[in-house]
Amino acid sequence: MIPQKKMAYNVAVVGATGAVGKTFLDILSERKFPIDNLKLLASSKSAGKKMQYNGKEYTVEELTHDSFKNIDIALFSAGASRSKEFAPSAVKAGAVVVDNSSAFRMDNDVPLVVPEVNPEDALKNNGIIANPNCTTIIMLVPLKPLHDYAKIKRVVVSSYQSASGAGAAATMELMEQTKAWSTGEPIEVKAFAHQLLFNVIPHIDVFTENGYTKEEMKMYNETRKMLHSDEIKVSATCVRVPVLTAHSESVLIETEKKLTPEKARELLSNASGVKLYDNPDEKQYPMPLLASGQDLCYVGRIREDIAYDNGLSFFVSGDQLRKGAATNAVQIAELLIK
Ligand SMILES: NC(=O)c1ccc[n+]([C@@H]2O[C@H](COP(=O)([O-])OP(=O)(O)OC[C@H]3O[C@@H](n4cnc5c(N)ncnc54)[C@H](OP(=O)(O)O)[C@@H]3O)[C@@H](O)[C@H]2O)c1
Repeated sequence: MIPQKKMAYNVAVVGATGAVGKTFLDILSERKFPIDNLKLLASSKSAGKKMQYNGKEYTVEELTHDSFKNIDIALFSAGASRSKEFAPSAVKAGAVVVDNSSAFRMDNDVPLVVPEVNPEDALKNNGIIANPNCTTIIMLVPLKPLHDYAKIKRVVVSSYQSASGAGAAATMELMEQTKAWSTGEPIEVKAFAHQLLFNVIPHIDVFTENGYTKEEMKMYNETRKMLHSDEIKVSATCVRVPVLTAHSESVLIETEKKLTPEKARELLSNASGVKLYDNPDEKQYPMPLLASGQDLCYVGRIREDIAYDNGLSFFVSGDQLRKGAATNAVQIAELLIK
């Protein structure tokens, strides 16, 4: 918990120069988060770099164990090893950490929170709150109202994940591959296992012993943790696609109680965080270009699944830098200061 209610808070953004870090600055500004002092932290290579927030210039500082004096809220997005190393120093200095990495997500004493799903968990923290995996957040926002009504037994999901999900350098790589192709230059591959341009890559994060990738197992484990269920089974196939921003997912759920498409549409049209966009006759369905730059998860292509008795299929697109990362984390910070 934040020790003291204030009019405005001292906020540190760790990883401020990255894809999520920059989005943090947009979201904090858009949502008018009450900031007294803002500290921007990154690696030594960015120290001294200037960044703008609300028209004011800030100098990026190197992240050290002493970076958190007088900080109330530290928003971490600099990778799991930095979170493991530096989040305890932030907590020791009195800050509450909202962490975007996978470092603490499955720790028993760390709440894993999507405000539309399990906001109450955020308040039971010991100084660190984890932001879930981006693909899991985008799936869970529409799943929660459906689960509350019909109790989900099984989820089969395939993702279509954008390049920016792998960070600023990966985004640049897709743009450079596009430029190289159009000018006949050789195409360079560094950030991904293969060329992403004109391709799809069914490989996100590392492979685990059971044949699933870590990203796919995050969807299994984090869904169960946030829905407080050991019974829900989640089988995910996570795929990188040549899209710049916003992840999409094809989701099939099997429910205990019958859930018709009409009922699902009614539930989703009233659900917070969801934009029901389901009018195929008018060519209206979720797509990453629609969801980019927005906080709502677009849901459409809702239909009764013909392979399962109590099955429902739908498609969802959401901006993973915003709702899948920065917006969700700032919403958590808002819950803490309420
Ligand atoms: N991209 C997404 O859609 C997304 C979504 C959800 C969660 N996340 C998570 O958010 C985190 C950041 O992802 P990203 O996509 O923003 O990556 P990114 O664009 O590569 O940015 C990484 C950030 O971490 C900083 N950093 C790297 N090494 C550091 C060090 N030794 N000390 C201090 N700062 C260091 C970088 O600073 P420099 O610029 O100085 O190197 C940069 O600000 C990751 O844990 C990722 O899993 C990402």
